[in-house]
Amino acid sequence: LFAAVEMAPRDPILGLNEQFNADTNPNKVNLGVGVYFDENGKLPLLKCVAQAEKQMMEAPTARGYLPIDGIAAYDKAVQGLVFGADSAAVKEGRVATVQGIGGTGGLKIGADFLKRLNPNAKVLISDPSWENHRALFTNAGFTVDTYPYYDAAKKGVNFDAMLAGLKAAPAGTVVVLHACCHNPTGYDITPAQWAQVVDAVKAAKLVPFLDMAYQGFGEGIKEDGAVIEQFMAAGLDFFVSTSFSKSFSLYGERVGALSVVCESKDEAARVLSQLKIVIRTNYSNPPTHGAQVVATVLNTPALRTLWEEELAGMRVRIKEMRTLLVEKLKAAGIKQDMSFITSQKGMFSYSGLSKDQMQRLRSEFGIYGVDSGRICVAALNKKNIDAVVSAIAKVS
Ligand code: LMR
Repeated sequence: LFAAVEMAPRDPILGLNEQFNADTNPNKVNLGVGVYFDENGKLPLLKCVAQAEKQMMEAPTARGYLPIDGIAAYDKAVQGLVFGADSAAVKEGRVATVQGIGGTGGLKIGADFLKRLNPNAKVLISDPSWENHRALFTNAGFTVDTYPYYDAAKKGVNFDAMLAGLKAAPAGTVVVLHACCHNPTGYDITPAQWAQVVDAVKAAKLVPFLDMAYQGFGEGIKEDGAVIEQFMAAGLDFFVSTSFSKSFSLYGERVGALSVVCESKDEAARVLSQLKIVIRTNYSNPPTHGAQVVATVLNTPALRTLWEEELAGMRVRIKEMRTLLVEKLKAAGIKQDMSFITSQKGMFSYSGLSKDQMQRLRSEFGIYGVDSGRICVAALNKKNIDAVVSAIAKVS
């Protein structure tokens, strides 16, 4: 039966974890997967999460099936966070939100729904994009192409080319946009540029699908989510997938969501009914724990304040690591101006290192980053940064 089954390649990101775990180098550093580690190199358990769990344990509940679309209080909290507490679209019942299995799950529910709705549409992702975007939309049955994004020479975004790429796309094309903290490059476009993207998407009648996995890691919760407001103000229908993996340090709980902004309440009800079919036929209904934690935190004012402080702490520490990395690379004799690292946002830095250099970092020094040159600066700390810098200096 399985004689013809071919060995699939390792996942370009999660596959690195397998390699990292098997590496016996005592000085190894994992800058591959997008995970935040604290100044001691530990995966944090946020205080707000621990307190919410304590509260939940004090009044334990049985674990029945959740509704197909998840915990109602969670979905509502997601809407408040993503669209704003006073959002007209939410108040008017025009937003269909479902709990998802992480941000990836939200993307997949959206992709499967879109494939049924518009089977011939093409999907455009940024060049480059999160490795799994292409794989996920391809596996959902779409042809996936790219729009220009990264400008290696400029160390930034080739915005004119991006805009031209979007304007040239046929009506109905699904365009996947990173709401903030672009993965993998770390380069975001400005609010004024977003306004032009929104206009282009509207004029070309594209279907915007915003991936927001890093809200709060760029400039702040509100600032990072500001683009959503621009899409709402333009009166567009659009998709937003969200993730709490990073912002709550709840990676393994797989807590995310998909929201679809529709024209009317009636339309949203019909869209929701279809999303529920996608979920029911994939995994029936979502798990309880992580979403209950997030709902408890977001809906309890004191815990929410604590969460915002803890998220700000992670954001600030990442920025400090960026500054330190630039200083130390300079001190290590790297001639090239590396200050672009501090203009990037979120967990990642597109370092400009080649595939060959990334592989040497791994095999010779136990420093793991993605072949594309992406390194997770959120995993740097004062103890491991010198080893990372000296290894980069040696391969440069
Ligand atoms: C990443 O890009 O490293 C994260 O989003 C984790 C993942 O699932 O790939």
